[in-house]
Amino acid sequence: MPYRSMIHVQVRLRIRGREEQYVACPVSAAGGRSLHVQVPRGEGGLPWVAEGTEVELLQRDGLHTATGRVRARSLRPVPSYAVELTESMLDKVLFMAKEGRAVLVTGGKGGTGKTFVSTALSLLLARQGARVALVDADLGTADVAVNLGLPKQPHLGHLLEGKKKLEDVLRRNVRPNLSVLPGATGTRFSDPSAWKLGTILTVVQSLRPQFDFVIVDSRAGIGSDVTSLFAGVDRVVFVTADEPAGLSDTLELLQSFAEIGRGPGALVVNRVHSYRSSVDRLLAFRSRAREETGIDVPLWGVLQEDPRVHVLAGAGRLLVEELPLSPTSVALRQLAARVQAL
Ligand SMILES: Nc1ncnc2c1ncn2[C@@H]1O[C@H](COP(=O)(O)OP(=O)(O)O)[C@@H](O)[C@H]1O
Ligand SMILES: [Mg+2]
Repeated sequence: MPYRSMIHVQVRLRIRGREEQYVACPVSAAGGRSLHVQVPRGEGGLPWVAEGTEVELLQRDGLHTATGRVRARSLRPVPSYAVELTESMLDKVLFMAKEGRAVLVTGGKGGTGKTFVSTALSLLLARQGARVALVDADLGTADVAVNLGLPKQPHLGHLLEGKKKLEDVLRRNVRPNLSVLPGATGTRFSDPSAWKLGTILTVVQSLRPQFDFVIVDSRAGIGSDVTSLFAGVDRVVFVTADEPAGLSDTLELLQSFAEIGRGPGALVVNRVHSYRSSVDRLLAFRSRAREETGIDVPLWGVLQEDPRVHVLAGAGRLLVEELPLSPTSVALRQLAARVQAL
C-alpha cells in the first residue's frame, strides 16, 4: 500500500527506557517501512542514540505496541532518526495520522506579499469551513497580527523563551474558524538559534491534530529559519514578484528547497501589473527552475497589484474580505481551492 510521505503525527516512543511524545513522519522508502522521528533539541531533549537502538511505539493508553530499530540518523535539516518498523507498527502510526496539513508561505525577497498571501489564504480556507491556524514565524519583523488588527503580544517569542505556553499565545477564533499565533517582534528574536527553530517546527506539528490547516508565514531569504521549516510541512508556496532580481532570488531558494525539502512546492507570483505580459515569462521561469533544480513548481497563482490593498490596509481591512470580486481576490480564492485539495 502506498503511504503518503508527508503526514506528520504525534507518537509516543520509548527509547532507551525514556518515554516521550515525538513528531514523526511515516515514510515508505525503497520498499522499506520507516518512521522519520524528529529529535527534540535543547534542555530535556533526548540524547543522540546509536544506530541499532531499539525503539518502542506506545499506544495512547501507554501499553507497549510494537518495536523498531534506529537504522540511520541525520542532523540536517532537522535532527532525526529513521526507525525501521514492523508493518503492524506503521499501520498503527497511520491510524493516528488524521491530522491537518501544513503549508509554508515563503519567498526569496521581502515585500513580495508573503504575509498578504498567507493571511488571505488562511481567511479563505476558514470561510470554507476548515479549521485554520495561521502561525507567524517571521522572527523579528512579524506583522500578521497588525494586518488582522490583533494585539501583537503575547507572541511566538514568549513561547520560544519558555515564558508562555502554546495555549497562552494562540489567539483562538479571531475570525470564525481562524486562530492566529502572532509572530515574535524585537531584535532578540531575529537571530534564531537551532533550538528555537526546532521549537517552531514542534509548534507547527503540535497544532496539526487540532486544525485542518496550519499556514506558516515566514520571512524572506535562504536563512536556516526558513529552510529548517521545509522538512516539516506538506507544501511550500513560494511567493515572488515578476522582476529579474526577485525571480533570481526565488531560483536560489528553490535550489535549497530541492536539496532539503521533502514535500512539493508551488509558485505564486504577486504584485503583477499585467497578467498577459507576465504569464509567458513566468512559464519560462518555471521551465528554467525545473532544469536548474530538478524540481517542478507549478504556478498556483498570478496576483495583480491592486492599489486598493493599501487604502484598505490603512483602515485595518483586507482585500479578500472587502472586495471579494476583485481579480486579485478571485485569484486568491483559486489558490485556496488548490490548498483545500491537498
Ligand atoms: N497584490 C497586491 N497589491 C497591492 N499591494 C500589495 C499586494 N500584495 C501585497 N501588497 C502590499 O505590499 C506590502 C508588502 O506585503 P507583505 O505581505 O507584507 O510582504 P512580505 O510579507 O513578503 O514582506 C504590503 O504593504 C502589502 O499590503
Ligand atoms: Mg511578511
